[in-house]
Amino acid sequence: MSHVKVVTLPKMGSVSVVCKTKRDLSPATPLDKRDDEALGWLYWDRIWPSSVALSEWLIQQFFPDELAGQRVLEIGCGTGLVGVVAAKLGASTTFSDLVPITLEAVKETCSLNGISHVDTWTLDWTGKVDRPEQFDMVVGSEIFYDSTVLGNIAYVLRQTLAPGGTGFFCDPNRLGLDTIKQVFQERFNVVTTKIPLTWPPRKGYGGKMATLYQFRHRFSNQI
Ligand SMILES: C[S@@+](CC[C@H](N)C(=O)[O-])C[C@H]1O[C@@H](n2cnc3c(N)ncnc32)[C@H](O)[C@@H]1O
Repeated sequence: MSHVKVVTLPKMGSVSVVCKTKRDLSPATPLDKRDDEALGWLYWDRIWPSSVALSEWLIQQFFPDELAGQRVLEIGCGTGLVGVVAAKLGASTTFSDLVPITLEAVKETCSLNGISHVDTWTLDWTGKVDRPEQFDMVVGSEIFYDSTVLGNIAYVLRQTLAPGGTGFFCDPNRLGLDTIKQVFQERFNVVTTKIPLTWPPRKGYGGKMATLYQFRHRFSNQI
């Protein structure tokens, strides 16, 4: 059943995160809505190390409120930690994921953290981008794990990132830098940096690094 984890972040302190499990799916949810992702992989039910790394990096760049007035979209949000941190830095965050129950958890997480404006979007990278908005910043963590959908993610970014905006993504380099660059470089300027992974906070768990990607539209007429 759902439980609350606490992530302690520099400068910001404790952020409470609701993690749901497949047991939280309502029995009333029709079978055809219980997609593979919800019943199978359960990738959305935990706090992934890169989400903490990206959160820490955003705090470093934008604390205390440098994101005020910015529209931020998190894609493949899972627990939504990165989007919550962006909201605490002043942004107006839209949380999106393929799996609806993640968005229910995110709403509870926002309420626990005093975030009153919560916008959610059931966005499947492999489907239609069915909302017209564009965002100043698009963020995502641990979503570069399947090379067959990288092109779809790049397409979603093309559609949702406003001209002049930046995409910030973080992952532990599962597919290799070259694979990511090959897909994104056609449309985006790509800058990469290494940042430290500090989650889970176990003794002896140190020294591991993640890749931070910054994407900006290569062309002014980006779509
Ligand atoms: C490894 S988890 C990462 C979750 C979160 N970003 C984090 O770092 O904790 C991958 C997330 O992508 C979502 N996802 C997988 N396939 C997707 C798709 N086709 N469209 C949108 N989201 C998807 C999953 O539901 C899951 O929440």
